[in-house]
Amino acid sequence: IDDLLRDGVAGERVFVRADLNVPLAGDTITDDGRIRAAVPTISRLAEAGARVIVASHLGRPKGEPDPRFSLAPVATRLGELLGREVAFATDTVGDSAKATVAALGDGEVTLLENLRFQAGETAKDDAERAAFADELAALADLYVGDGFGAVHRKHASVFDLPARLPHAAGGLIATEVGVLRRLTDEVERPYAVVLGGAKVSDKLGVIDHLLERADRILIGGGMAYTFLKAQGHEVGNSLLQEDQLEAVRGYLKRAEARGVEFVLPVDVLAVAEFPDLASKAPADPRTVGVDAIPADLMGLDIGPKTQELYAAKLADAATVFWNGPMGVFEHPDFDGGTRAVAQALLDSSAFTVVGGGDSAAAVRLLGFDETAFGHISTGGGASLEYLEGKTLPGLAALED
Ligand code: 3PG
Repeated sequence: IDDLLRDGVAGERVFVRADLNVPLAGDTITDDGRIRAAVPTISRLAEAGARVIVASHLGRPKGEPDPRFSLAPVATRLGELLGREVAFATDTVGDSAKATVAALGDGEVTLLENLRFQAGETAKDDAERAAFADELAALADLYVGDGFGAVHRKHASVFDLPARLPHAAGGLIATEVGVLRRLTDEVERPYAVVLGGAKVSDKLGVIDHLLERADRILIGGGMAYTFLKAQGHEVGNSLLQEDQLEAVRGYLKRAEARGVEFVLPVDVLAVAEFPDLASKAPADPRTVGVDAIPADLMGLDIGPKTQELYAAKLADAATVFWNGPMGVFEHPDFDGGTRAVAQALLDSSAFTVVGGGDSAAAVRLLGFDETAFGHISTGGGASLEYLEGKTLPGLAALED
């Protein structure tokens, strides 16, 4: 983007592919982190006199308009954060988009309706995606890729569109990639990784990669129970992925052979029934050791001894990557583990990276000052796939 700005963008129609996929409760944005992260690139372009066309997906609509996934509330919030009016186009490449773009003056900004209201955006068929990319390309003169959270998707606006217009990477993508390099090529040791979230199956690739690079891997969240079971513990009604047990046993063996330390919970907070996240009514969990989880209870957070253990394991790290909450942090009875890990990251002098939509949202929702962390990534799947060493379509398209 620095090169683009140096060459001058005044009067040019610049298409900015952002990731404004924020959590919504009805029309209310519950975490605007991704919108705030998109602002600097849009501002720089607008200040330089570009006619800025912002586009994003939101949620997973099925290739046709669906009011539940409208970007209209995001347009309002984006306007507030930019301190400029954002004209909202009520379609993506139709009459409204064409008219809104045609009416843009220099330095003005429009947001198109959800890209995924068009089946061509996510189509597996190359020709179908290409046809949609052609329609998008007709709206603009230049392309800036800045939606880091979506660069792992081979979608029309991410992968096919840059090939049709002079293109550049935006500031957010540049920052995110710079940070992730410090977790892959230029790691300062000891390198500790905290992995949580519901499913082991979502983390297989990244665990594979980390076994070659990390010094210590701490496991929490729902996925911990598959690890505990693999080590011979009974986990009661806790979340368990039986079909991953073999893979997990393999990881534990490989870790031992490579001298990578796997750290698992020693105690958990357990209840009989999943709590009501809407009313947040007290769930009165019991703290139980991992060798004594009753058959009729499910573990929903790491326990106090585990919190202490994890804080100690993070205290002397030089680099920490954290992905995935330690428990059901949306309920106050089960947010202690996630809070403790966030606090341990803040207390350590390590370079700390929080990756993943859920952990980043957790940090903000639990009231932590996000600026105190080394970096909070806007990419969940994208940062994990980067760490797996995969080629990310949205980055490859910009390098070309
Ligand atoms: C995300 O939330 O990780 C990105 O916005 C990508 O969304 P997707 O998983 O629906 O493609």
